[in-house]
Amino acid sequence: MPIRDGVVRLLLTACSFGLFSACTDERAPNASPAEVSHPAAAVTRERLMAATGEPENWISHGGDYAEQRFSRLTAIDEKNVGDLGLAWSFDLRTDRGVEATPLVDDGVMYVSAPFNIVYALDAATGEQLWTFDPHMDRDWVRNVCCGFVNRGVALYGENVYIGTLDGRLIAIDRNTGRSVWDVDTVEEGKPYSITGAPRVVEGKVVIGNSGADFGVRGYVSAYEAETGELAWRTYTVPGNPADGFESEAMERAAETWTGDWWVAGGGGTPWDGMAYDPELRLLYVGTGNGSPYVRWLRDPEGGDNLYLSSILALDPETGKQVWYYQETPAESWDYTATAPIMLVDLEIAGRLRKTLLHAPKNGFFFILDRTDGSFISAEPFTTVTWALGYDERGRPIENPEKDFRERAQFIRPSPYGGHSWQPWSYHPGTGLVYFPKRDMGSIFVGDPDWEYKPKTWNMGFDTAAFSSFSVSDGGPMTAALIAWDPVAQRQVWSVPHVTGFNGGTLATAGGLVFQGSADGRFVAYRATNGEKLWESPASTGVIAGPITYAVDGEQYVAVTAGWGASFSWSGGELALAAGVRGGGRVLSFKLGADGVVPTGKPPLGPVPKPTFALESTEAERAQGMELFHFYCSVCHGPMAVAGGSVPDLRHLPEAKHAIFDEIVRGGLFKTHGMPAFPDQLDALELHAIQAWILSRARESAGER
Ligand code: HEC
Repeated sequence: MPIRDGVVRLLLTACSFGLFSACTDERAPNASPAEVSHPAAAVTRERLMAATGEPENWISHGGDYAEQRFSRLTAIDEKNVGDLGLAWSFDLRTDRGVEATPLVDDGVMYVSAPFNIVYALDAATGEQLWTFDPHMDRDWVRNVCCGFVNRGVALYGENVYIGTLDGRLIAIDRNTGRSVWDVDTVEEGKPYSITGAPRVVEGKVVIGNSGADFGVRGYVSAYEAETGELAWRTYTVPGNPADGFESEAMERAAETWTGDWWVAGGGGTPWDGMAYDPELRLLYVGTGNGSPYVRWLRDPEGGDNLYLSSILALDPETGKQVWYYQETPAESWDYTATAPIMLVDLEIAGRLRKTLLHAPKNGFFFILDRTDGSFISAEPFTTVTWALGYDERGRPIENPEKDFRERAQFIRPSPYGGHSWQPWSYHPGTGLVYFPKRDMGSIFVGDPDWEYKPKTWNMGFDTAAFSSFSVSDGGPMTAALIAWDPVAQRQVWSVPHVTGFNGGTLATAGGLVFQGSADGRFVAYRATNGEKLWESPASTGVIAGPITYAVDGEQYVAVTAGWGASFSWSGGELALAAGVRGGGRVLSFKLGADGVVPTGKPPLGPVPKPTFALESTEAERAQGMELFHFYCSVCHGPMAVAGGSVPDLRHLPEAKHAIFDEIVRGGLFKTHGMPAFPDQLDALELHAIQAWILSRARESAGER
């Protein structure tokens, strides 16, 4: 098998309505300034419903239930944004990726770091008030597809809520940082994990899960906020019919599946996007990809496989499904529908519609009627080759020329998606939606020999077939921040990015859009035209979404920075192009401040000639390469080219080569996320992997 530098296997990842009442009166970019008006108060249902009316706080993940991430604060605006400076920074003490949106209430910021460590910080100074470590089970990291990340916490009553990588949901007392309750949401040790932020609706904490890349059955659960008692659980795909169906929705769904799909779980894990319409009393949840990805391996007869890659509208009291819309029937490309969901009222064709907006991985911008799930339109926001478009009923017209059943195909978007979990925002004044898009494709090829193996990757892709594939075979790869007009369904402006994994966005009534970038910058743009108005270094790549808040009448803009997670793990040279390393921190900016953003770690530079030597045969090295791509490359990168956030093993120093076995089988660095492989690898296999890594190091250092 040819081995080339520059080989990229993208496949290896898995992986306003706005309270219209609060928002429709503020449709201009320059709304009236906010006042800090209320004393410290418990977060209630009423406060969550009217969250946009207290812009000094940011009390739920998407800013409000409509998840528009639009703030009415105006102290920082188009004219003065150039005077923004660093007010404070807080070191999250991690080199792993940071995806969290912080929450702020009454001058206190609550933020989650990798491995679910929660910090309460003084939002004006960054001083730590308390920290909570749930001691996430480090043996669980092998069940994690895409980084030891967490996208944020929820606030309700006097508690902070967090879902953990090892599948627990925990309530923490927001005043003391102590655990109030701690429940296991995972079924019988199956490889589920939680990375998404909980949402609180009608007094219940709602949480989904991930794990479809390993083989599980997705579900969303709701727990009583006060007690942690399970209120309901709703599955996203049917289980074994022999066990009976939990609901009519499951019975209907089972008609769209054939074979023994439940053995591998089916997938459909709802791991990120949710929104709530309290007027309609509908909770919207986006579901994930299939287990395995490739549909003819999952379901030989090829039905739609409901409810993979769908938006589900649920009754918040019971979890009962009210309607569904499937974005990608018979999902086969890792096209999850888990991207953030946004609720906006829009005038479309002369009619005010209560819409649900969605720009998921499959590359189409969807507009649905959120009252009943009816399809309004879907237009591509990036280059799409898997489908030719959507028909009037809202079904995709698949591109027959891109069927990868018989032969490998280069298809856009890649499994990273045209847009994935990165938070997006809507500005009611411009009517535009802002989000980072990717224009990237990938080779797709099924593994005809795939069979379900518990507790490991079950994607059904032939990963070995990618090593002879070069990115240039598939045409250019680009990425950009875009402003999208959802009514006209077209892009209005765009700003190019260096590479494909950039931060989420925040829109403000000051006429601004804030976004961090993969290459380590935090930037303010003019919301109307994308003109860059201000920029700060961020010391590391930014992938999370920013927020804004006020303390004592002073407005702050904050973002968590920290290069890492799926793209940095498996994106190889494309991820290295960001030119940054890990180093998680919270950065908070205000007008007139003159703090200095700490310097980030410099890129590793050229691979040095290895000084460690190991005898090996070509056959052993070939076996090592194969084992590496099965067990290691998802984190350490294709062809051992790591993307800047986990160690690049070609750079491994002699002293660490000497203790390779202790690290890899012994679990020496387990606390930091390097899993132990005691049972998976014997001494000969370990030797083969190490020998291949050394040969890659020599090769990269220019030696044969
Ligand atoms: C789930 C992600 C993940 C997988 C899978 C993984 N690693 Fe790691 N590995 C890490 C992380 C994270 C670190 C850094 C730990 C630290 O900061 O100490 C690491 C560190 C290492 C180190 C030490 C590097 C150094 O410079 O200190 C070695 C060696 C290593 N891994 C080898 C392997 C091998 C071989 C495999 C496959 C058999 C593998 N890893 C699979 C995440 C992973």
